[in-house]
Amino acid sequence: MAIPLTPQTNIPEQKAPVLSTAEIKRRESAALKAETITLEEEKIYRRGLVEIKDLIAPAAFEVKPTYFRLNESYGRTLFVLTYPRYISVGWFTPIINLSKTLDVSMFFYPTRSDLILKQLKKRVGNMQAQLMSDVEKGAPRDPMLETAINDIEKLRDDLTQGIEKFFQYALYVTIYADTLDDLEELTSEIEAILGGKLIYSKKVFYQAEQGFNSTLPIGIDELMISFNMNTSPVASSFPFISSELSSDNGILYGINRHNNSLILFDRFSLQNANYVIFATSGAGKSYSIKLEVLRSLMLGVDIIIIDPEREYLHLCEAVGGTYIDISLASKNKINPYDLPRSIGDATTEDIIRSAVITLKGLLKIMFGQITVEEDAILDRALIETYASKDVTPQADLSKIEAPVMQDLQSILEGMEGARELSLKLNKYTRGTFAGLFNQPTNVDMKNQLVVFSVRDLEDELRPIALYSIITYIWNVIRSEIKKRILVIDEAWWLMTHEDSAKFIFALVKRCRKYYLGVTTITQDVNDFLNSPYGKAIVTNSALQMLLRQSPAAIDNIQDIFLLTQGEKYLLLEGGVGEGIFFAGNKHAAIKVVASYNEDQLITSDPRQLLEIEAAKRQFEAEAGKEDETAEPAEEVLPKKISGVKEMGI
Ligand SMILES: Nc1ncnc2c1ncn2[C@@H]1O[C@H](COP(=O)(O)OP(=O)(O)O)[C@@H](O)[C@H]1O
Ligand SMILES: [Mg+2]
Repeated sequence: MAIPLTPQTNIPEQKAPVLSTAEIKRRESAALKAETITLEEEKIYRRGLVEIKDLIAPAAFEVKPTYFRLNESYGRTLFVLTYPRYISVGWFTPIINLSKTLDVSMFFYPTRSDLILKQLKKRVGNMQAQLMSDVEKGAPRDPMLETAINDIEKLRDDLTQGIEKFFQYALYVTIYADTLDDLEELTSEIEAILGGKLIYSKKVFYQAEQGFNSTLPIGIDELMISFNMNTSPVASSFPFISSELSSDNGILYGINRHNNSLILFDRFSLQNANYVIFATSGAGKSYSIKLEVLRSLMLGVDIIIIDPEREYLHLCEAVGGTYIDISLASKNKINPYDLPRSIGDATTEDIIRSAVITLKGLLKIMFGQITVEEDAILDRALIETYASKDVTPQADLSKIEAPVMQDLQSILEGMEGARELSLKLNKYTRGTFAGLFNQPTNVDMKNQLVVFSVRDLEDELRPIALYSIITYIWNVIRSEIKKRILVIDEAWWLMTHEDSAKFIFALVKRCRKYYLGVTTITQDVNDFLNSPYGKAIVTNSALQMLLRQSPAAIDNIQDIFLLTQGEKYLLLEGGVGEGIFFAGNKHAAIKVVASYNEDQLITSDPRQLLEIEAAKRQFEAEAGKEDETAEPAEEVLPKKISGVKEMGI
């Protein structure tokens, strides 16, 4: 049997209808006509539509020989004519950073190297001929000519080897002003800035419209005024190196308002990890710190916050932190007599001595003024208090039980000349304030985020409590070295007493050794800066942020931070979250921005908080309803939320 080699197809052949040529032509022209009509109709329809173009287009554009008028404002284009022999990187930065409205465009036209080489060869030939004729004539040497020849020879080498390429480079700047006078003034300003760098610019003449068009973001060069340049100087014209404040790793602090770049930093990579923030109330200090806290937690940094307004609770809950309420009524206690477990190679004697000094600082804040005799008595009494609990230079610090305030009281009562001190201390051991300092520590700091709330403390007790909380934190920090940040919000409380100011300063100075960065936030700028310790804290903080300032504080701020007049106004008029950020010796205008989710966690806007609370309650109610039918294991969520409610949010 024969097998067919080609596959057989059973598809019947399609019969195309046979049309005459005349018919085809007729149909084609009818289709064309119909299409033209539709297009025409669409054109008419589109003419009646309002587009974005119509909305943003100026109502009037008047062209004059050297400037143009755009509605109510005036504009003019300047172009660069020549450049000097040497040009430094970032030469264009002063123009970019000028706080004026300008449009800048740069055009780069690559040129074929072989054409340029031919021209250069001719030039160098001419110059060499000149040189030789000078020598023959016995004329003195011409350094200008020699330099030019050297430059050209070097360029010829680089072009031939492909190290450099050749471009024609055009740079136009269009400036705008409200009046003609302002326009002239701005023109001179820009010409002066460029002239200072030996770059000569000119304003357009009878080409105002072409100038305007050439600086529109449409990439059309209607002026065509270019300058020959090789790669290196062209590269130095790259404009966006202005006020750059960014490192390769770290967290986002905000947006650089000069050029919309990101301000990223790892504060632990600077010479110290301390940070100060100054601003008036409501300028966004706590908000920016909360953002930093959230973002740093993600990088595994441990954070401890002292919260005087109870505004970190929501954030703390959300990330599963420990919230410790310190007040007379609270069950949480901190004993100022605690000792750190061990500190590097410090001996037990050193540790006890430093604890006695710290405690004396605390007692001075508690008692107000004390005399020199009383100081000596306290010194002795404190050492005896420790000794009464067997805390001596020979003791093993991991096994001791620290004394409490009552033990000091007993020692003072038995000491000669200590009657008055003992009476003063009574208030803190048996009197109204007994709840706060007279018991062993029962708080736990084993969490990545720990917040101490001091809102419910009486004003009189606050500096004292802050002092003991910070001592406690300092002990924990020295016992185990870890990457940590300590945030002290509204730190001016601590500056009101010399002893606590001194203590914070010592902390800020020494914390680098323990991998700790201290953040101090304050709204009472003058008080803070007028204290010598406050000033020293500022100089010992590598990161600094200034947000909106009150007119009363601005002069002080301007002196200390060496601000320009422009920066001063920026701080007086800035919106919420806007200010100046300093890192080391660089600074830039910043805007602190949060994502929606971050904002929900950190806002302290009462309206937003009410909304969040309402949403929580609704969630709770719904969860409760579901709960009636759900498995018992799912009860966890509603319980947790009612826990949150107890804490007052
Ligand atoms: N960068 C910001 N973006 C949006 N809202 C902000 C920003 N900074 C602060 N806020 C809002 O402004 C208000 C005041 O901020 P807050 O940080 O509490 O001020 P401060 O601590 O300086 O007194 C709050 O309602 C806060 O939510
Ligand atoms: Mg605040």
